[in-house]
Amino acid sequence: MVVILFFLLLFTNFLATTQQGHSSISLGSSLTPTGNSSWLSPSGLHGFGFYQRGNGFSLGVFIAGIPQKTVVWTANRDNPPLPGNVTLHLTGGGSLMLQSADSQEASIVTTSVPIAKASMFDSGNFVLYNSAEGIIWQSFRNATDTILPGQGLLAREELYSSVSETDQSTGNFRLTMQGDGNLVQYPKDAPYEGPYSYYSSSTPQNGDNVNVSLNLDVDGHLYLRNSTGFIIKDLTPGGNSTEETFYLMRIDSDGIFRLYSFTLNQSNLSAIWASSADKCSPKGLCGVNRYCVQNDQEIGFGCQCLPGFAISGEGSRISGSCQKNFSTESCESKDGNIMYTIERVTNTIWEDSSYSIVSLPNNEECEKACLEDCICEAAMFKDGKCKKQKLPLRFGRKLNDESNIALIKVGVEDKRSKKERREDLVII
Ligand SMILES: *[C@@H]1O[C@H](CO)[C@@H](O)[C@H](O)[C@H]1NC(C)=O
Ligand SMILES: *[C@@H]1O[C@H](CO)[C@@H](O)[C@H](O)[C@H]1NC(C)=O
Ligand SMILES: *[C@@H]1O[C@H](CO)[C@@H](O)[C@H](O)[C@H]1NC(C)=O
Ligand SMILES: *[C@@H]1O[C@H](CO)[C@@H](O)[C@H](O)[C@H]1NC(C)=O
Ligand SMILES: *[C@@H]1O[C@H](CO)[C@@H](O)[C@H](O)[C@H]1NC(C)=O
Ligand SMILES: *[C@@H]1O[C@H](CO)[C@@H](O)[C@H](O)[C@H]1NC(C)=O
Ligand SMILES: *[C@@H]1O[C@H](CO)[C@@H](O)[C@H](O)[C@H]1NC(C)=O
Ligand SMILES: *[C@@H]1O[C@H](CO)[C@@H](O)[C@H](O)[C@H]1NC(C)=O
Ligand SMILES: *[C@@H]1O[C@H](CO)[C@@H](O)[C@H](O)[C@H]1NC(C)=O
Repeated sequence: MVVILFFLLLFTNFLATTQQGHSSISLGSSLTPTGNSSWLSPSGLHGFGFYQRGNGFSLGVFIAGIPQKTVVWTANRDNPPLPGNVTLHLTGGGSLMLQSADSQEASIVTTSVPIAKASMFDSGNFVLYNSAEGIIWQSFRNATDTILPGQGLLAREELYSSVSETDQSTGNFRLTMQGDGNLVQYPKDAPYEGPYSYYSSSTPQNGDNVNVSLNLDVDGHLYLRNSTGFIIKDLTPGGNSTEETFYLMRIDSDGIFRLYSFTLNQSNLSAIWASSADKCSPKGLCGVNRYCVQNDQEIGFGCQCLPGFAISGEGSRISGSCQKNFSTESCESKDGNIMYTIERVTNTIWEDSSYSIVSLPNNEECEKACLEDCICEAAMFKDGKCKKQKLPLRFGRKLNDESNIALIKVGVEDKRSKKERREDLVII
């Protein structure tokens, strides 16, 4: 009985998504950034086409029905912006082709068979069909950083954050719907391994949960469903208003994924749920040799350099790294002018990339061990363990209930050498 009801539900769901309104785009149609720039869905809510990006344009799907155009998918997101004199053709030969002003052509999506028609759905899905009306490509199965109701994230699919709200190039974080049924977040280039993750749905591992998908319904319900259709975890309760209110889920450039709602008369999206309230949780939010500290400022966190280190370059972004602000000489050279001292950074945690772990009674002994070891650049002391490390230090953050002490080897010039250098300066 339950099973029958369930399949009925699935079926009505299926009808709802397939019968949704769509505009058909026939072969021979074209778009230009400054003329007819998009193909809108029948309701006008979503559109596929050119949108302004920096000094140029990108191609993608955006919410066209609200004052602030919000991009939900971008073609070739890591390519530079396009100039205004390009044309997109759905060619008679069956390809979606971008033509530059000097007639160079580049395919926007690669399909194995010719395209016979395209459709822009009210759901936000841009779909390409073959001559038998079969789907050969759809933006819903090529997600960038956003999923829309009905789209979902299937097993082994992933989302990558954007650089910023106005630059949809690949940013620093990913959200992966793993084959083991867990929905997990990692820094962009990190391995798919526990120590690198910073969010996990901790889906029950009952051995059967293969092909689990992340789903978003029109009422703001965000959940994980297994391959036989059982909801195995709710991320949001749903049941929210569907009266002129729309929802989307996005992994933001700060590494946190959020559920947003919007209405047609509202200029900005409103975040109604976030995967974490801890702004410092995304690993690698701050660049190397820096650590994240939560604060009450608008973005909710700041990035500090290690003591003795400084940020390089002007207007450095949070993902910029800090470098040594002291001269380095081999610590083996006896007549060098550089001496080393240890600066303590309490209550911080870092990636464990130690090359040596020694049991020592206190952090003074750990400091000594690092000072006496020429290749030691930093050490972590916690619970009687002294972990010696080399730079760079990654994934740093302040955590108040942690007893970990980071010990940083910092070069100090002795007085004699400082004086000599100052005199040098005067002569120059
Ligand atoms: C835009 O498309 C419409 C309908 O296809 C057409 O009538 C109009 O001339 C086009 N405008 C430009 C600037 O190409
Ligand atoms: C197209 O526009 C770009 C950027 O404005 C310009 O550099 C280029 O010369 C233009 N190409 C042609 C053939 O007009
Ligand atoms: C989306 O399509 C592009 C181009 O075909 C491809 O390189 C990329 O891997 C696809 N991304 C996903 C998430 O499928
Ligand atoms: C889905 O979950 C249900 C309920 O936990 C379970 O009985 C079923 O075996 C699961 N199916 C798969 C394919 O894992
Ligand atoms: C899981 O998905 C893969 C790829 O879609 C499919 O080959 C496999 O049969 C599925 N397994 C189960 C148990 O549903
Ligand atoms: C609406 O959304 C918010 C955030 O996800 C949630 O707290 C609330 O319970 C939802 N449901 C209703 C009926 O408001
Ligand atoms: C926008 O529309 C919603 C739903 O129609 C309405 O409840 C709300 O008051 C409107 N807000 C503004 C600022 O007009
Ligand atoms: C919408 O966002 C923009 C840019 O973030 C901001 O300047 C503006 O004040 C916001 N508007 C509203 C109504 O919140
Ligand atoms: C870097 O070191 C120089 C010289 O010791 C000092 O004047 C400067 O303030 C330091 N910069 C930072 C950002 O700590």
